Amino acid sequence: MSAPRAQASINLAALERNCSRLRSELRAGAELCAVVKADGYGHGAAHSASAALAGGASWLAVASAPEARELREAGLRDAHILVMGALSLAEVREALAVDADVVVWSERYVRAVAEAGGGRVHVKLDSGMGRLGTRDAGEASRVLAAARATRGVQPVGLMSHFATADDLQDDGFFARQLDTFARWARELKVEQPELIVHAANSAAMLRDADAQFDMVRCGIAIYGMDPFGVDPAERALEPVLELSSYVAEVKACRAGESAGYGRRFIAQRDTYLGVLPMGYGDGLRRGLSNNGDVLIGGRRYSLVGTVSMDNVTVDLGAAASAERLRGEPAILIGFQGNERITAEDLARRLDTINYEITCLLTPRVARVYHRDGVVALEQAATGPSAAEPQVAAWIPARDG
Ligand SMILES: Cc1ncc(COP(=O)(O)O)c(C=O)c1O
Repeated sequence: MSAPRAQASINLAALERNCSRLRSELRAGAELCAVVKADGYGHGAAHSASAALAGGASWLAVASAPEARELREAGLRDAHILVMGALSLAEVREALAVDADVVVWSERYVRAVAEAGGGRVHVKLDSGMGRLGTRDAGEASRVLAAARATRGVQPVGLMSHFATADDLQDDGFFARQLDTFARWARELKVEQPELIVHAANSAAMLRDADAQFDMVRCGIAIYGMDPFGVDPAERALEPVLELSSYVAEVKACRAGESAGYGRRFIAQRDTYLGVLPMGYGDGLRRGLSNNGDVLIGGRRYSLVGTVSMDNVTVDLGAAASAERLRGEPAILIGFQGNERITAEDLARRLDTINYEITCLLTPRVARVYHRDGVVALEQAATGPSAAEPQVAAWIPARDG
């Protein structure tokens, strides 16, 4: 059997179920906005967006104007799209041209929206994140008033963003941010009930129903990753993405022989090495050198030696039966038999967050979109190697 050298299998049915599951936690009337920026956290923006809408999301959010354009060009013509990032005048124009909403926090931005031909805006209060938005609630209210008074500009939302929602041990900062935002938004909502009040990311919506307001903006959780960095199963989230390669070569390695750049693995005993043709050029981080696992034939093996750009090696053990693993699929994220590796496991090893694990997968990784194993679309890896048949209709077994 031979599998693609580097493949992400994306289960759109799981993404849909995650959205339904999140919606079931929402207060009556609150809407779900699916955050699909950064190519849907590496899962594919347009496919993720469609699945999220099928799962009950009613809004989409991205960071940039080209990301909004990509969704429209993919056929998502009717969905509400919010561009959350800071935009230049040219980018405001681009966002408005594709009928997306933008974020404003100064009267200057309101004028920019008017100059660009007008559009819908969400006013952002910086309740403590210290990035976009104004920290001054009075100014935020003035911006809202200016938006209402400016021809062609339509205020649609009031928003903020939490800095510590994912830290359950924070020192009350989350609660203070929530209070600051709620006090500002509550009053304005009484006067203008049509405004959509929103602040929560995945962690905030799961942590505190009071943070849900009229809408939540969920990214990480719709992809079945846990916003608190623990096992997604704890919150009944299903990982959407499986990452796989295959055993391209098996070779005997005698005690004292080494593998990879810098000889960072030297065999202490006779063993067999497997070579997986996937490396940091695919987004498999170099920090996994001598520091990771892979599932092959239903068993867990250790990654050994340095992760290089295109290859990584695996210690397959001393048994001659290792030879039979040549050609077998190798799972870097996913299930096999009773074994499982999550993006959260990789993040812990790399001292980072699960977001980074999937976001950093490169275009060289082929994407296969499926619904519980039934292939919907195969998207070849990009780059020179894509001329080869990169994508086999092969999905890692979902037996765990
Ligand atoms: C402004 C804003 N809202 C919502 C989100 C979604 O956050 P999460 O992926 O933690 O749900 C993000 C993501 O970084 C964001 O920047």
